Amino acid sequence: MANKSFGRGVAVVGAGMSKFGAFPGMSTRDLFVQAFQEMRASVDKGLDPNDIETLYIGNAASELFEGQGHTAPLMADWVGLTPRPSTRVEDACASGGVAFRQGIMAVASGMYDIVLVGGIEKMTDLPTAEVTDKLATASDLQYEIPAGFTFPGFYAAMATAYMHQYGAVPEAFMKVGIKNHENGALNDKAQFGSTIRKVMDGKVAKAQSRGYPVPEWADELDFLHDERANPVISWPMRLFDCSPISDGAAALLIVAEELAENFTEDPLYVIGSGQASDAALHDRASLTTLRSAKEASRQAYEMAGVQPDDIKLAEVHDCFTIAEVIATEDLDFFAPGEGHAAAEEGLTARHGPKPINTSGGLKSKGHPVGASGAGQVVEIWKQLRGAAGDRQVPGEPELGLTHNVGGTGQTCAVHIFERR
Ligand code: COA
Repeated sequence: MANKSFGRGVAVVGAGMSKFGAFPGMSTRDLFVQAFQEMRASVDKGLDPNDIETLYIGNAASELFEGQGHTAPLMADWVGLTPRPSTRVEDACASGGVAFRQGIMAVASGMYDIVLVGGIEKMTDLPTAEVTDKLATASDLQYEIPAGFTFPGFYAAMATAYMHQYGAVPEAFMKVGIKNHENGALNDKAQFGSTIRKVMDGKVAKAQSRGYPVPEWADELDFLHDERANPVISWPMRLFDCSPISDGAAALLIVAEELAENFTEDPLYVIGSGQASDAALHDRASLTTLRSAKEASRQAYEMAGVQPDDIKLAEVHDCFTIAEVIATEDLDFFAPGEGHAAAEEGLTARHGPKPINTSGGLKSKGHPVGASGAGQVVEIWKQLRGAAGDRQVPGEPELGLTHNVGGTGQTCAVHIFERR
């Protein structure tokens, strides 16, 4: 496929998000208003909302989760943007990343100068079993669901194939969970604001206060091997290998590069964008790589003119811990079959050579599916501007990447950002 380029440069000049978590009584519109307000406050030189010309909203399945469809104009109304055109983008869990790409293309084409991109989802009104059924509609209903697959089951199949092919052990996946909880504990927007060590301490304190036998875990890995504390969801994926069921929203302001200085002296330039599709999982040659992620990242690297080694940090789609390991290989950060060792050796830790998911990732920050891709950009915005607080990666990172997957990889969107 021929390489593509933007018609003109595009910059991110504002970014915000709601807290991710479970918020009974709040709807996507409430969460989106929070994200919009934080985004507005983040614009260094101020934003008059009347200057926004159009909006793209990533939203996977609000009619299934909330009984509310046609969400884009609702979001436009709740942040005071009617009658501007508003468009919902649905690509399962990649909805936010693909909405961002639509916004970029709207600016790059010259059609609009100032565009709002959002991501929204409200999943926690339904019990887990129903959420699982609704999420499964993003797979192939004709071939995969009759075989008994759910999303934890798909990723468990990928993990099993990966272990078989490369000799990986479940502890490598556990290390991803430990790392992402450590990062999420430093993110006040994260659903799980605690390290796994803190979860363990809480369970010990609870047992003591109730006079129950007190568990004696030697360390986090010991805890994660405990079937009661960390039950198998779909082997080898256990509870702490899964992203949670979440509510949340994110908002981004993107503008033509030549207008960026009207909003901030410190924009993030979008220098690469890629998107690709693939068949459903049952119909693929390999379960240990996502062809869509390889193709989307190839497009983004070529457009940006950078190499995987040049990328300082990345937010990748860790809906399950195995997905992070595979993502780091598909993005060519590590060779095929080496991602699990990289995770075990701490290469992807916040202070490692290739920090991955400093926000806590989907695993710990939360995964309100249609919002996750936009939420990833919020983290890169903070990190590249040196505003990530206690979880700031060292040095002055200049290049960051987002990798957002829909389904089991039927869709993938990859973006590369530069701070100049
Ligand atoms: N990781 C760690 N802890 C989790 C968790 C997760 N993903 N999900 C829930 N918990 C904790 C809760 O905080 C609660 O802790 P507590 O007892 O100390 O209060 C406990 O586990 C039970 O929570 P509950 O909500 O009843 O869990 P559940 O068994 O109903 O759901 C999963 C757990 C893993 C099945 C559910 O989170 C899930 O389906 N995740 C995957 C979502 C998904 O597929 N997304 C799309 C990806 S493509």
